[in-house]
Amino acid sequence: MNLQKKKILCISGSTKSRSTSLSFLQYIARSFEGLLEVEIYNNIGILPHFNPELDNENLPEKVKDFRRKIEIADAILFCSPEYVFSLPGSLKNAIEWTVSTTLFSSKPVAIIITAAVGEKAFESLSLIMTTIEAIVPETSKLLIKGAKGKISSNGIINDEKTQKQIDKTVKSLIKNIDNDDKRGTKFRQ
Ligand SMILES: Cc1cc2nc3c(=O)[nH]c(=O)nc-3n(C[C@H](O)[C@H](O)[C@H](O)COP(=O)(O)O)c2cc1C
Repeated sequence: MNLQKKKILCISGSTKSRSTSLSFLQYIARSFEGLLEVEIYNNIGILPHFNPELDNENLPEKVKDFRRKIEIADAILFCSPEYVFSLPGSLKNAIEWTVSTTLFSSKPVAIIITAAVGEKAFESLSLIMTTIEAIVPETSKLLIKGAKGKISSNGIINDEKTQKQIDKTVKSLIKNIDNDDKRGTKFRQ
C-alpha cells in the first residue's frame, strides 16, 4: 500500500485575495491535512490572457509554473464562484492554457461551485472537464448554493450539512486517485 500523502492541487476560481472559494479550500486543507498534501493555487489572476500564438516555445513562465503544478498533482480540486451565469473568465482563461496539453487526461478531478445559485458554472465546468478528458465522477461534484451564508465572519465553515457534503466529495476524489493508481495511468505516457 502506498502510504505517501496524495498531492491535491486546489484551484480557486476567484481572483480575490480573500474569497468565499478560498475559505472553502482552506477548510478542506485543514480537514484533510493528515491524509492529503494540499496546495492551494489562488493565483489565476496573474496568468496572462490565453493566446494560442504563445502556446509554444514562447510559453509565459507563469503558465509553465501553473501547468507544472497540475502535472505533478495526483488530483485537482476546483472551487469556484459563478459570475454572470457562467464560470469566472479568469478560471476559463487558466483552463484554456491547458487545452493543448494532455494534463487533464485521466486526471482525477473534483468540482465544487460555491455561489449564490451556481448551476450554470457547475454545468460549464463539468462539461469542460469531460471535454478535456478528466475523470470526474458525479460523487466528486458539489454545488453549494448560498455559499456565503455557510461561512462565519472569520472565514470558518460551520454548517454541518455542508461540512458532510464536502467530506463526501473529497473522499470521492481520494477514491478516484486510488482507482487511478490501480489503472496505472500515470505511467501510460
Ligand atoms: C460580477 C459578479 C457576478 C455574479 N454572478 C452570479 C451569478 O450569475 N450566479 C450566482 O449564483 N452568483 C453570482 N455572483 C455571486 C458569487 O458567485 C458569490 O458571491 C460567490 O460566493 C463569490 O465567490 P468568491 O468570493 O469566491 O469570489 C456574482 C458575483 C459577482 C461579483
